[in-house]
Amino acid sequence: MAFSGTGKVWMNGKLVDWANANIHVASHVVHYASAVFEGARCYKTPLGSAFFRLDAHIRRLYDSARIYRMDYALGQDAFTQAVVDTVQANGLEACYIRPILYRGYHELGVNPMTCPVDGTILVWEWGAYLGPEALERGVDACVSSWARAAPNTFPAMAKSAANYANSALIKMEALLGGYSEGIALDPNGRISEGSGQNIFIVRDEILHTPPVSASVLPGITRDTVMTLAQDLGYQVREQELPREMLYIGDEVFFVGTAAEITPIKSIDKVQIGAGRRGPVTTALQQAFFDYVNGVVPDKYNWLQTVEIPSVAKTR
Ligand SMILES: Cc1ncc(COP(=O)(O)O)c(C=O)c1O
Repeated sequence: MAFSGTGKVWMNGKLVDWANANIHVASHVVHYASAVFEGARCYKTPLGSAFFRLDAHIRRLYDSARIYRMDYALGQDAFTQAVVDTVQANGLEACYIRPILYRGYHELGVNPMTCPVDGTILVWEWGAYLGPEALERGVDACVSSWARAAPNTFPAMAKSAANYANSALIKMEALLGGYSEGIALDPNGRISEGSGQNIFIVRDEILHTPPVSASVLPGITRDTVMTLAQDLGYQVREQELPREMLYIGDEVFFVGTAAEITPIKSIDKVQIGAGRRGPVTTALQQAFFDYVNGVVPDKYNWLQTVEIPSVAKTR
């Protein structure tokens, strides 16, 4: 869905109009993908708008920045406040939040350290990432011919823009092949993750997901699903998984902030289970959406309410 092109963007402490949220083409990030970023969501709940696990997202952003030796002028608390300010200024009751720290404008060369670390926060309304029907009916996926990065090449635990060159190759190959998503293997041929999602396989009511050593981003939704699954009484195993587990799973689903919990109905044209959303996926979706939509008690303190000024709402 194209941007509406309206609203405010936070740039290094200033709220600027969307149309003026520009950087110079000579900025380091444009040439060398020297950025780390996050994707978080704010949901509309009966108690008002609420960020879901914003603290975990900001922590991962600063972890990513640390890995890439990027020191931003603001600390985590001040940056979190900036996210609040941006959402309030835009008057969106529910939105997707994209904070990004990047190497800006000074000089060009591979060495990023001479360039400033700049920060931006974008927010926009974003529905179901893989289409409105995907959450219910599931998607068709393929195993990508592109693997995830090997250990000690691109750090998978950092959510860096550079990693998404690999994700884009996976995604394009999948779309051009007639699939909605691609699933990447790690350099050892074990299951890793989707182009922008972690993955779970259910077999005999046990949940399996690859470990962080399988070149996956340590997803916050992945952690949420593991916690909620255990609360529902399911066993969860975090372990190396061979590719063929994908085809013999009773249910397979993607998880991520954008994708939320999206069932997979086929992989490489092999039908998964009954070819539709299965009972474990349904139970987990229910628990997840009940939680993020604030209809069950916030047992883990994952929701942070934010007042949306009514003036901004009618903007
Ligand atoms: C490559 C990749 N893996 C996994 C995820 C899921 O992470 P999270 O649940 O924190 O959004 C994402 C989304 O950010 C991603 O881009």
